[in-house]
Amino acid sequence: MSEIRNESIWKSGKTKIDWVRANMPLLNSIEKEFSEKKPFKGIKIALSIHLEAKTAYLCKVLAAGGAEMYITGSNPLSTQDDVAAALVHDGLNVYAWYNASDEEYHRHTSEVIKAGPNIIIDDGGDLVNLIHNEYPELIDNVIGGCEETTTGIIRLIAMNNDNALKFPMVLVNNADCKHLFDNRYGTGQSVWDGINRTTNLIVAGKNVVVAGYGWCGKGVAMRAKGMGASVIVTEIDPIKAMEAVMDGFKVMKMEKAAKIGDFFITVTGCKDVITEKSFMNMKDGAIMCNAGHFDCEVDVAGLKDLAVETKQARNNIMGYKLPNGNWLNVIAEGRLVNLAAGDGHPAEIMDMSFAIQALSALYLVENRDKLKEKIIDVPKSVDNEVARRKIKFWGLEIDSLTPEQEKYLSSWEV
Ligand SMILES: NC(=O)c1ccc[n+]([C@@H]2O[C@H](COP(=O)([O-])OP(=O)(O)OC[C@H]3O[C@@H](n4cnc5c(N)ncnc54)[C@H](O)[C@@H]3O)[C@@H](O)[C@H]2O)c1
Repeated sequence: MSEIRNESIWKSGKTKIDWVRANMPLLNSIEKEFSEKKPFKGIKIALSIHLEAKTAYLCKVLAAGGAEMYITGSNPLSTQDDVAAALVHDGLNVYAWYNASDEEYHRHTSEVIKAGPNIIIDDGGDLVNLIHNEYPELIDNVIGGCEETTTGIIRLIAMNNDNALKFPMVLVNNADCKHLFDNRYGTGQSVWDGINRTTNLIVAGKNVVVAGYGWCGKGVAMRAKGMGASVIVTEIDPIKAMEAVMDGFKVMKMEKAAKIGDFFITVTGCKDVITEKSFMNMKDGAIMCNAGHFDCEVDVAGLKDLAVETKQARNNIMGYKLPNGNWLNVIAEGRLVNLAAGDGHPAEIMDMSFAIQALSALYLVENRDKLKEKIIDVPKSVDNEVARRKIKFWGLEIDSLTPEQEKYLSSWEV
């Protein structure tokens, strides 16, 4: 069973999946191992991750391991219909389409939960919330799940603290091979890919305001600097603010940055980061976008209310005229700019993130009788194994400790 827009467009989806497969050697090796051992035989997996080619390949790897896959997107604007069609053409169950309404998005996520999954692979926490709130009778089937992103982790920690979490959840985002590379270098590159291809404007010489100097914000700021922008960081955490200063960026309050920014990128995981107070101070032609998980960082609804006129300024850019005559622009409705206005992170980056996902799902199955109903870290052995394989695929060799060095590093006596 599936619910997609149009299965006949599967060939272009397959071409996209073939391209990423050729650039994801870690997943290639895991696919081979899973195909031989079939660790997910008899296991149903519900997966909600931005449904583009790299995610599709992860789904195929899990299916190669014997899993019965039930797939949906994790954002209404990031699903690529041809990729969804290619998965359905290969016999996987997909419930997703581009630009789903709230009701359609809810129906699609509900369908994958109604399948009665044994493993849940989530990105932002929507599936985990749904099963706990609307389908508690299906919780007993669940061995456990994996969470892809920072925002989902925040929700899981809150559930865990309230003893509300009813099955083990692996915090994939917190693995070193995930956030150190995906959040920083993946977001750093793909956010600018989305902005550049959508605006076709110069970045050099412009003032770029990055809200949030966490793993993602560091990447976005670093790449903006590389393109010749003058970068301003806004933060609420004094330590992150100090880091930004020492990395060479100006730090100030959003209220002040609003007056001088040309591009604004929110990547905080928080809400109401850019609101009316800032809109009224912004320069004519300022461009705003969001790279945080949910579309609540730029108050687009507030901007709409404030506007005296709106126009489609360019494909995927909406212009809003304020009472003071200034036009402000928002890319992709304030949804994740790298996915709603681009193809997401580079394949080589998602190779690591999805290797962690695949091996964490395997860990859940192999340890199903031992795990508690709480959040768990990705085992260090999995993190190290992914790094070891990636280094090998890059053709690199690194040193290893001699027994004497090992002893030296683990003893307190000189
Ligand atoms: N676009 C993508 O592809 C992508 C990839 C990974 C993560 N994410 C999402 O991006 C967001 C950030 O993730 P991260 O890993 O960088 O998290 P992080 O926790 O490392 O960083 C978030 C930073 O934002 C700061 N912050 C919080 N509220 C703020 C506010 N109101 N104003 C200014 N700064 C504020 C925090 O102090 C922190 O330094 C999350 O929603 C995450 O899910 C997106």
